[in-house]
Amino acid sequence: MESWGTTLLLLFFANLLVLGVSSTQDHDKHFLECLIDQFQSSNADPSNVVYNPNNASYASLLLAPNLRPESTSPLRPLLIVTPYYEHEIRAVIYCSKKLGTQMRVRSGGHDYEGLSYISGIPFVILDMRNFRSASINTKDKTAWVEVGMTLGQLYHTIARHSKTLAFTAGVCPTVGLGGHISGGGYGMMSRKHSIAADHIIDAKVMNADGHIVDRRSMGEDLFWAIRGGGGTSFGIVLAFKLQLVTIPETVTVFKVSRTSEQNATSLVHKWQYIADRIDQNILLRLFLRSITSPIHGNRTIHATFTTLYLGRAHDLLPIMQEKFPELGLVQEDCIEMSWIESALYFAGLRNESLDILLSRTPTGIFARNYLKGKSDYVRQPIPVTGLRGMWRFLHEEDEHMAELQFSPYGGALNDYSESETPFAHRAGFIFMIHYAVTWNSSGNSELERHMNWIRRFYSYMAPYVSKNPRAAYFNYRDLDLGTNNEGNTSYAQASVWGLKYFGNNFNRLVRVKTKVDPSNFFRNEQSIPPLSL
Ligand SMILES: Cc1cc2nc3c(=O)[nH]c(=O)nc-3n(C[C@H](O)[C@H](O)[C@H](O)COP(=O)(O)OP(=O)(O)OC[C@H]3O[C@@H](n4cnc5c(N)ncnc54)[C@H](O)[C@@H]3O)c2cc1C
Ligand SMILES: *[C@@H]1O[C@H](CO)[C@@H](O)[C@H](O)[C@H]1NC(C)=O
Ligand SMILES: *[C@@H]1O[C@H](CO)[C@@H](O)[C@H](O)[C@H]1NC(C)=O
Ligand SMILES: *[C@@H]1O[C@H](CO)[C@@H](O)[C@H](O)[C@H]1NC(C)=O
Ligand SMILES: *[C@@H]1O[C@H](CO)[C@@H](O)[C@H](O)[C@H]1NC(C)=O
Ligand SMILES: *[C@@H]1O[C@H](CO)[C@@H](O)[C@H](O)[C@H]1NC(C)=O
Ligand SMILES: *[C@@H]1O[C@H](CO)[C@@H](O)[C@H](O)[C@H]1NC(C)=O
Repeated sequence: MESWGTTLLLLFFANLLVLGVSSTQDHDKHFLECLIDQFQSSNADPSNVVYNPNNASYASLLLAPNLRPESTSPLRPLLIVTPYYEHEIRAVIYCSKKLGTQMRVRSGGHDYEGLSYISGIPFVILDMRNFRSASINTKDKTAWVEVGMTLGQLYHTIARHSKTLAFTAGVCPTVGLGGHISGGGYGMMSRKHSIAADHIIDAKVMNADGHIVDRRSMGEDLFWAIRGGGGTSFGIVLAFKLQLVTIPETVTVFKVSRTSEQNATSLVHKWQYIADRIDQNILLRLFLRSITSPIHGNRTIHATFTTLYLGRAHDLLPIMQEKFPELGLVQEDCIEMSWIESALYFAGLRNESLDILLSRTPTGIFARNYLKGKSDYVRQPIPVTGLRGMWRFLHEEDEHMAELQFSPYGGALNDYSESETPFAHRAGFIFMIHYAVTWNSSGNSELERHMNWIRRFYSYMAPYVSKNPRAAYFNYRDLDLGTNNEGNTSYAQASVWGLKYFGNNFNRLVRVKTKVDPSNFFRNEQSIPPLSL
């Protein structure tokens, strides 16, 4: 039955092509022909790596880990290519340039606005999932890792080699290294070890001419740009060399929740005065939700203090009792475990086998849903009146579907100047706010309701957060901050969002872009424009 259906479909498309009815179909065909030519000229076999819409696995490959809040149904890619070899990537670049077809690069596919797999104009996806080898050198504490690897796969691999080595990066195990590291990479060890991009010591990048460059041959400008400025604008990152960090064999974690009735508001208020200053071995992340109270039946705020301490519980307790006695942390709240077990714990996968870190399918708290996120940075503690207004927004949204995360800065994040890497959010920032709302139905009215909520919330926050620019985190990409006019972005237009993500580093990113990709081949709705445009 199915093959009969497919045959009919193929006949249908063949007719369209013969009659020349659809130029899109022509485009598909030309791209495929070009690609097959290119593959054959290097004796490569496209049958395992090139997926067209008629291939059975095309649809499941296209599925993204989080759904983009999009009201109109987006275009589907002409092809999805999942290369194993560098010359296969070169072929995609060649045909994409020759035919003027957009190319989107995807490593883990977690882009907040889906820019790695969605485009408004005909495009192909270069999906790096098969570039996922790693070689760990425990002696000099480094690792060469390919970009299609996920954070979970990286953590699992490091832990197999050593109990005292780790890498500092994000929490969600299915996030890909390609997007994550090139855009920054904040995680539970960031107060001790800063962000992922600060620990990149070499990289392999394919440029628009199909040449592969490393740190020495790419020069320090480009090497600087891909450590926080995003990979998208500059080339295809193939691999990173990581400087691993040393960790104790035993770490301590806890998650302690307090409701409004349990003084959550004053605890959150107090948290702002200690979270960025406390011992750098402690990262006290705060999650806020509005949940129906079993006692009063109305909604109440749950503040969950989620913590990693790089050490033993008996050393953590006295620090907490001295710096944050109001929280009332007790021995029973603390759980000692290995760092790799803490990776499971923070992903909400406690008690699962470690091998779940190898899966590319988001589960549990990261399961697939519509998601809209935004970010802000805080320089001055938010007063209690401001916090109460934030709680009112949380109470408005569907229960369990809206969440705030407060991620503390300070510590090692301040060891780097604002211009050392493109990631400019250093000394002076107490914490980052992440706003998120998720929902599960595709209707337009749902979309509008949630987008409207998060935008109103964001505008309410203006007096309490950083200004001129109002800073934002590039990895929490937000197209509300401004977008490029496809292929025609002026410096002035792009600087609206560029200064928010990168501060004054935006100007240097533009200079690097102008030098390495003056024709703007590598682009999307929020890529760095070259100066000539
Ligand atoms: C559930 C969830 C949890 C998250 N948790 C954290 C967290 O704890 N900390 C944190 O800092 N961030 C976090 N993020 C944000 C995450 O870091 C970014 O979304 C990141 O860009 C995802 O990388 P990716 O490779 O998975 O995404 P992709 O969608 O594949 O790529 C993101 C962007 O980078 C480009 N790109 C991807 N690969 C390459 C490459 N090889 N060369 C050049 N350009 C490339 C893409 O074209 C796209 O523009 C989270 C996101 C989600 C959805
Ligand atoms: C996709 O389908 C074509 C036939 O239409 C087949 O030749 C090719 O091998 C398939 N590609 C993959 C990656 O399975
Ligand atoms: C709430 O916290 C504040 C200070 O953070 C403290 O003064 C007050 O006593 C606490 N109230 C309760 C009920 O715990
Ligand atoms: C919930 O109800 C209790 C008791 O009526 C009240 O004290 C509390 O302020 C209410 N909370 C909210 C968030 O409205
Ligand atoms: C995990 O296992 C521990 C010890 O066996 C148990 O106490 C705990 O409830 C489990 N946690 C979850 C989330 O299942
Ligand atoms: C969808 O979200 C609603 C809350 O808005 C929830 O009650 C429901 O269980 C969710 N459905 C699925 C399939 O996740
Ligand atoms: C590009 O932008 C400039 C300035 O905004 C405008 O003058 C010009 O007409 C635009 N060109 C195209 C092709 O859109």
